[in-house]
Amino acid sequence: MRTQVGIIGAGPAGLLLSHLLHLRGIASVVLEKRSRDYVERRVRAGVLEQGTVDTLVEAGVGARLLREGLPHHGIELRYGGAGHRIAFEKLVPGRSITVYGQQEVVKDLIAARLEAGGDVRFEVEDVALHGLEAEPYLTFGGERLDCDVIAGCDGFHGVSRPAVPDGVLRFFERDYPFAWLGVLAEVAPSSEELIYSQTERGFALHSMRSPTVSRFYLQVPPDATTGEWPDERIWDELRARLETVPGFTLTTGRIIEKGVTPMRGFVTEPMQYGRLYLAGDAAHIVPPTGAKGLNLAVADVRVLTEALDRFFSTGSADLLDGYSEACLKRVWRAQHFSWWMTTLLHTFDSDDDYGRRLQRSHLDYVTSSEAAATTLAENYVGLPW
Ligand code: FAD
Ligand code: DHB
Repeated sequence: MRTQVGIIGAGPAGLLLSHLLHLRGIASVVLEKRSRDYVERRVRAGVLEQGTVDTLVEAGVGARLLREGLPHHGIELRYGGAGHRIAFEKLVPGRSITVYGQQEVVKDLIAARLEAGGDVRFEVEDVALHGLEAEPYLTFGGERLDCDVIAGCDGFHGVSRPAVPDGVLRFFERDYPFAWLGVLAEVAPSSEELIYSQTERGFALHSMRSPTVSRFYLQVPPDATTGEWPDERIWDELRARLETVPGFTLTTGRIIEKGVTPMRGFVTEPMQYGRLYLAGDAAHIVPPTGAKGLNLAVADVRVLTEALDRFFSTGSADLLDGYSEACLKRVWRAQHFSWWMTTLLHTFDSDDDYGRRLQRSHLDYVTSSEAAATTLAENYVGLPW
């Protein structure tokens, strides 16, 4: 079997790449370890930057996103007994974000690929990469797929990055001393906009998925398990961390999903080796506070699509050669912003009183200076491509 681009992973990166390549007449095969049902149900990110929405709409996969996605023109930072709005419409006019679940993006992309006769294979076992230097091919479940190029879109725990020989790649890493407990609940959001709440008990985030489904996150110890967090404890803690301003009441409901996500920053340099190109979480991850992970995956895929189009239409590998360099500027901006938001809003047990005063001063500055608030807003809605 032969294709132009062998894509490992049917997350947002792999599926969008396959779709964008199809629109340019470039063939690909997507190999996914999990079942279709599993990837369509996996609850993860929810904030799409303006540029991500534009990319999906321009690619013809944005109809449901435009219908069901929730446009947001601001967020609230809550601390010290008061809420402070970061107003995108004033600080970054014309730019906003849309709340739409990652698994909905994945569903829309899978539907589009299958409708166009795309080759997306689920429950594929033992994918392995070979011949990366010159004649790449993939093996899986007793089959062989020859390709011109391999795209490693298989997330942080995938097989692509480890297939590169030792000593070629350099890794940059930062672990945080806490994790996020993510919760999905059948209850109308208690706020129209997202609330990022800093308290001495730890950070909490109130987000949403629809007028009837809310999404919450709680800062928890790094080794926390969902078993330690029965529903009542979750609601008690969310109340304690969100009902910190006069007049705000959290409405509770049935919890339908919960999971613990570690907090880590990680970058691979370069994001390529021979004929292998890494995109999305396979190449880098961010702590989720800045809501950048999914959006970065989309940015990588845009760059890779242009480079592959040029390669297949002209034979020139110049854009492919510069792929990593073209992506890493944005990757590092997102790393810095995610670290900045994480530091601004979380409780660090290692902080002394001096550290806590610094954090409070930083929050006061971001919520009182238009220049500082604009720094947050322009990074949050996403910098131009
Ligand atoms: P993924 O979505 O991870 O997709 C990779 C795909 O490759 C998966 O379908 C996987 O099954 C498949 N795969 C892996 N190994 C193999 C293999 N050997 N063979 C074949 N297929 C393979 N970001 C936010 O902004 N906010 C959040 O709240 C948030 N929560 C997250 C929670 C979790 C648990 C995780 C892991 C990530 C979260 N993120 C969040 C980050 C965001 O979801 C990711 O940045 C985004 O999913 C990146 O997309 P991707 O396609 O690169 O990788
Ligand atoms: C969501 C996730 C984030 O990481 C974030 O910063 C804001 C919202 C969400 O899943 O809705």
